[in-house]
Amino acid sequence: MSPTNVVILTGAGISAESGIPTFRGSDGLWEGHRVEDVASPEGFAANPTLVHQFYNLRRAALKAVEPNAAHQALARLQKTWGNRVTLVTQNVDDLHERAGSTEVLHMHGELLAALCAGCEHRFKSRTDLKQTMPCPACGAHGSLRPDIVWFGEMPYCMDDIHHALTQAKIFVSIGTSGNVYPAAGLVRMAALCGATTIEINLEPSVNTSEFDQRFIGPASVEVPRWVEQLVRGTADPLPQA
Ligand code: APR
Repeated sequence: MSPTNVVILTGAGISAESGIPTFRGSDGLWEGHRVEDVASPEGFAANPTLVHQFYNLRRAALKAVEPNAAHQALARLQKTWGNRVTLVTQNVDDLHERAGSTEVLHMHGELLAALCAGCEHRFKSRTDLKQTMPCPACGAHGSLRPDIVWFGEMPYCMDDIHHALTQAKIFVSIGTSGNVYPAAGLVRMAALCGATTIEINLEPSVNTSEFDQRFIGPASVEVPRWVEQLVRGTADPLPQA
C-alpha cells in the first residue's frame, strides 16, 4: 500500500509486555492506590508528598523496562511513511521514543517532564520531584508537579489530534480499554472523518462495537503483523464484522 494518512492511538496495553502495569486491574487500584488519590488535582492538593513519591517511583521504574516489538513496529511505520503517520499516546512512559518514534503526541503528559502549577512552565525532568523544589522559570517554591494530565484536566495536543483525524484514512487504537474520554471518543470522530477504524487489543474494549475491524491478541504479536501487512500493501481495506 502506498503511504496513506494513519492516526494511531496507544494506551497502557502496548507497554504491558514491557513490564509496565495497566491501569484498570481487577482490584480497581493503581499500584495499590485509589486512582483519585494519585491522579487528580484534589488528590495532589490533599497529599502532595504521596503524589510526588508515587510518580517518582513510576519514573524510576521506567529505567528498568524496554520497548517491545509493538513499539518498534510503530517506529518502523513512522520511519517508512514519515509525517503521514500521527502517533498519539495516552501513555506517560517514553517507550515509543526509545523505540525510535519521533513526534509522539502525549495527550496525558509525560513522566519525564514537570509542570509549574503557578506559571504553567513545562520542562523535561528525569529527576525526582519534591515539594520544596523551585520552578526554574518563575522561581516559585512548592508549585512543581508531574506533567501528567489528571482526571478532570484537559488533555494536551487536542487541536493537533483533531487536525490529523480530518486527514486520516486509517485510525488504529492499540491497547486501550476505551474507558477514558476524550481518547475513547477519537474512534467516533475518525469514523465521521471517513477513516477505516481498527482496534488491536488483548480483549475487546468497552467501545469495540465502534470499530470496523479488530485484531484480538497481545500487542507484541498483533501490531508487528498489522504494520507488516500495511507497508506491504496486503492489509484488508474492507471493514469486517
Ligand atoms: N496487548 C494488547 N492489549 C493489552 C495487553 C497486551 N499485551 N495487555 C493489556 N491490554 C489491554 C487491556 O485488555 C485493556 O483493554 O490494554 C487495555 C489497558 O486498559 P487501561 O488499563 O484502562 O489503560 P488505558 O486505556 O491506557 O487507560 C487510559 O486512563 O487512568 C487513565 O490517564 C490514564 O492514560 C490512562 C487512561
